[in-house]
Amino acid sequence: MNKTSGRKVVVIGTGAVGISYAFAVLNQAVCDELVLIDLNEKRVHAEARDLRHGVLYAPSPTKVKEGDYADCADADIVCICAGVAQKEGETRLDLIDRNLAVFKNVVAQVMQHGFDGIFLIATNPVDVLSYATWRFSGLPKERVIGSGTILDTARLCNCLGKAFNVSPCSVDAHMIGEHGDSVIAAWSTASIAGMPLKDALEKSGNGAERMAEIHENVRSAAYSIIEGKGATYYGIAMGLARITQAILRNQDVVLTVSTLLSGEYGQDDVYIGVPAVLNGNGVARIIEKPLNDEEMAKFAHSAHILREHQEKVAD
Ligand code: 2OP
Repeated sequence: MNKTSGRKVVVIGTGAVGISYAFAVLNQAVCDELVLIDLNEKRVHAEARDLRHGVLYAPSPTKVKEGDYADCADADIVCICAGVAQKEGETRLDLIDRNLAVFKNVVAQVMQHGFDGIFLIATNPVDVLSYATWRFSGLPKERVIGSGTILDTARLCNCLGKAFNVSPCSVDAHMIGEHGDSVIAAWSTASIAGMPLKDALEKSGNGAERMAEIHENVRSAAYSIIEGKGATYYGIAMGLARITQAILRNQDVVLTVSTLLSGEYGQDDVYIGVPAVLNGNGVARIIEKPLNDEEMAKFAHSAHILREHQEKVAD
């Protein structure tokens, strides 16, 4: 075992998402040790070296190094960002075959080295790959977490913050369901300081139109960013770092992540984005928002799409 001391995070895959996550984790002093793993040895060595050069100016002296699967043995969190990313014209679900093959190999190697911590999954389609990781690893569902709709929720809070002239941090709203085209805005429970946003938007006269516009803005955000710069990575990296903090600092905070439902929202055996309480044990519990009938129907549709794709996961 190579653990020095304290909280250890291993990042597998140092493409744009993995390395942005590593940078966020380093800047936020979330862990004591940060290990990077990538098939490309030259690249991972260079990335680790570059990050180490920033440690002097980080809030705490995190140990950063390139490593291998043996480093997973005593890791608290293994974050998988490996695999291919969406290109212009592709949906997240289009990546499934290629990334399932990557995950089968990666998860097997992590587990062969005795990993007993929490998996955090970022690669798309994130809900299906979280389900695959849960199945391949044999770890309890609480300890396999997908980034789910954490980024969609941030995008929604951003839009609503702008619309109502408040910081996104003062918006209480969630995107739920697939992190993909069937994602749902839970309008019926969205609020600012208890003021229901659905009512506020409806009172403005063209509420339905504005809600549809905001939903479309959130749903298509990745597509338009990919069109502009080829990939998305900072937003998701910040979301992953937030989940990491919640776990390593045992915070009991509610974040929208992908987790396995067992009856919640009327659904079973599906990894999907919902608000959940996160702490040192991973997903402590799922929060069941009081959705209206329309939202419940959309959620069931999203779960159905994911369940169909989950069928591709063979042990
Ligand atoms: C995103 O939503 C592509 O899933 C990535 O930014």
